[in-house]
Amino acid sequence: MVSKKLGVVALGSALAFSLTACGGEGAGGSTQDTANADPSELTIGVAMPTQTSERWIADGASVEEGLEAAGYEVNLQYANDDIPTQQQQIDQMITQGADALVVAAIDGTALSGQLQAAADAGIPVISYDRLIRDSENVDFYVTFDNEEVGRQQATALLAGLGVLNRDGTPGQATGPFNVELFAGSLDDNNAHFFWGGAMEVLQPFIDNGTVVVKSGQTSIEQAATLRWQQETAQRRMEDLLTSTYSDGSRVDGVLSPYDGLSRGIITALQNAGYGSGSNPIPVVTGQDAEIASVKLIADGVQSSTIFKDTRNLAEQAITSTQAFLEGGEPEANDTETYDNGVKVVPAYLLPIETVYQDTIQQQLIDTGYYTAEEVASGQSAG
Ligand code: BGC
Repeated sequence: MVSKKLGVVALGSALAFSLTACGGEGAGGSTQDTANADPSELTIGVAMPTQTSERWIADGASVEEGLEAAGYEVNLQYANDDIPTQQQQIDQMITQGADALVVAAIDGTALSGQLQAAADAGIPVISYDRLIRDSENVDFYVTFDNEEVGRQQATALLAGLGVLNRDGTPGQATGPFNVELFAGSLDDNNAHFFWGGAMEVLQPFIDNGTVVVKSGQTSIEQAATLRWQQETAQRRMEDLLTSTYSDGSRVDGVLSPYDGLSRGIITALQNAGYGSGSNPIPVVTGQDAEIASVKLIADGVQSSTIFKDTRNLAEQAITSTQAFLEGGEPEANDTETYDNGVKVVPAYLLPIETVYQDTIQQQLIDTGYYTAEEVASGQSAG
């Protein structure tokens, strides 16, 4: 993945330059005297949730490379989606003297103790992509426009069915279409934003009968997928097919909030005969533009995904960390949306895009995110 790495290296040199330009200035913010330190004396703890998803591997690598290129020491840890492991890793980062923390939480409500310890030690905490809840000690939040992710997923679902055009204007199809709904992990704040955005678009079509959730499972609790597990989604889709579609009716579309879930859902559908002969595969959405799913989209199996350019998220995380370490404050572009239960956390939201079969080239290949070979093989070159 040379192109991705180059992006981060270029960013690193830009940061190195700006560090030289502003080194030694700034005060306040952190209670530690990091403003006058050389970056090489400072360590940033980076806590990531899991390596089972390509997206988090890329996030961790980009943040690590960018921070290292700016001269910092980095302590990057993955927690195998296990909450106590992540708590321990962060505890250790603090006792080992981390100067700043960048955290993508597994369970957004489970880190209050760690964040209190960080605050007591004067360590700034940046919540990475997933908001850490129930703590006043979250200093900044870098993420994407999560509600917009949900709106675009629902729009892509309805566009695949022909009910809407891709731009959200009315399409030709009137339905009724059988649709099933999947949500992410309830302990991930983002799952609620994705669901909220999606239902904002879908609800009017459920209300007027264009979209029928035949299983009747329309609450986020019923649709949720603990820890975003592919196998869990596959099992639920299998159960839905048995419980609701053994009467000869068919599924026309599935709202799926993440590519890993989409692959589980697609496997269940294919095992039940969808996608062969005169039984088309339903319209299935996704998120993260994972390479295996981009190939499925190229092959006409998955309908769409949401592209979140994690290179830009890593860049924001690095810029924000640096601002705190220099004794300043990062620049927010949203100071209203992300109430974590204790306070509204200042946030920087990045834009997202929907990718369809005919836009892969322009959005993912021409931008250097993947090579044409990676898309064709469904595997990342590394
Ligand atoms: C992220 C998504 C990702 C999901 C599962 C969410 O918090 O925002 O991009 O698909 O976690 O890893």
